[in-house]
Amino acid sequence: MESNEVKKDNGSVSEKEILWTKLSHTNSFNEDSQQVFNINRNELLAIKSDNNYYVVSNRCPHAGLPLKGCTIDSQEQTLTCVWHHSSFCYKTGEVKEWLKVSTFERILGKLFLKGNKQAEGMMDMEPIPVDTFMTKVEDDHLWVGFDN
Ligand code: FES
Repeated sequence: MESNEVKKDNGSVSEKEILWTKLSHTNSFNEDSQQVFNINRNELLAIKSDNNYYVVSNRCPHAGLPLKGCTIDSQEQTLTCVWHHSSFCYKTGEVKEWLKVSTFERILGKLFLKGNKQAEGMMDMEPIPVDTFMTKVEDDHLWVGFDN
């Protein structure tokens, strides 16, 4: 069963140029394969795919909506945002597809956002990669690394 719980970090360790923060036990991904953490003012999404672990920003670079609940394709190594179906490589953050919406949905989106100058251009935005973070598994836990 997946939860919407946002987990707190369990502690951090500085190693050379990297600040590592422990996230959760690897076994927990068997029940909850997409987990959200708030670390160093970043909202992170940790995922398990094909027996490996990846951490990306939980905020979609398109409209800043949560990526948790995204569709994971382990063969293509992508995650696809549920909101407007942009997909990203979960290893590199590279944009694989941007705003895969129909022309009708695009027009509807523009009409809905009409009058909100900041939001109006949202359906015409240029592709932006998603932020990715270093990971390691140690002590049966997933860790995320930040440049120190
Ligand atoms: S918020 Fe993710 S594609 Fe629009």
